[in-house]
Amino acid sequence: MHLTPASYPATRFRRNRRTDALRRLTQETAFGVNDLIWPVFIQDDAGSSDIASMPGVQRHSTEALLPRVEEAARLGVPAVCLFPYTAPSARTETCEMAWHPDNLVNRTIRAIKDAVPEMAVMTDIALDPFNIHGQDGLMRDGIVLNDETVDALVKMALSQAEAGADILGPSDMMDGRIGRMRMALEAEGHHGTSIMSYSAKYASVFYGPFRDAVGASAVLKGDKKTYQMNPGNTDEALRLVARDLTEGADSVMVKPGMPYLDVCRRVKDEFGVPTFAYQVSGEYAMLKGAMAQGWLDPTKGMAESLLAFKRAGCDGVLTYFAPEMARHLRDVNGTA
Ligand code: PBG
Repeated sequence: MHLTPASYPATRFRRNRRTDALRRLTQETAFGVNDLIWPVFIQDDAGSSDIASMPGVQRHSTEALLPRVEEAARLGVPAVCLFPYTAPSARTETCEMAWHPDNLVNRTIRAIKDAVPEMAVMTDIALDPFNIHGQDGLMRDGIVLNDETVDALVKMALSQAEAGADILGPSDMMDGRIGRMRMALEAEGHHGTSIMSYSAKYASVFYGPFRDAVGASAVLKGDKKTYQMNPGNTDEALRLVARDLTEGADSVMVKPGMPYLDVCRRVKDEFGVPTFAYQVSGEYAMLKGAMAQGWLDPTKGMAESLLAFKRAGCDGVLTYFAPEMARHLRDVNGTA
């Protein structure tokens, strides 16, 4: 691809960096408002509550969430992703609430599609918000069961599709769930429901603040290493993505984000499919913590962290910064 190596003074790299206009003109990748998916936490209780480990992020009742979703839509954010909080006392071993047609998530999907129809609604499919153990699947004798869990997840997928979800997000990492969900969706006439598979989801310490937000920290014993990936692996990520695409995923995700940008790049290069990353709660908390100390410029830190995902080949990013980033993009671009 390259000719002779650049030699001085024929080549001076600083020429293209000399002015703002030249820098903008020669920029290879950019982050835009269309690249944002906003993860939001919802609760049964009225009003909103703070999450100590995620400054600036709150859990909202459906009613309190709606004006915020409207504002995000006005700013041009294309999608929100719903995560329900369940109090430890409301959790059960069998997790039936996960596929109840009128559970908090399904009610909120309907409310958003009714009030803000242009907003794409993504969901989470996993049992950790409902489970007494805080694990993503059903358990027996200390083991997270695969096939029994998939049966439950299929019911969950159908109830969310029925409620009007645009994108289903299985974050559970059980084997075979994408194929089973896809077949069930087709059989029930949900031909247009998209699946974004959390294909390469690592057993990461960076999910800590999220588990506080959904009420899982207090109940979770142990770790998720028997189903989430080993942080040392990347070949396995490619095999998982290939498997999920074959089973009927429409897009794939790498999670966490910033510590795993090498995985994003490999996935994009290998498959060329819609590839997303999740800038998870711990990444957000880390950035916010440094920003609060005055150690990082808040706006520039946010923008640079998100640009990195585009450079690594991602088509979009789930980020708690979504509304803030959309506002920033509107301010720098003049229009949203
Ligand atoms: C669980 C789930 C997790 C996240 C999204 N879905 C946490 C986990 O696997 O324990 C993490 C998101 C974040 O940290 O922001 N199904």
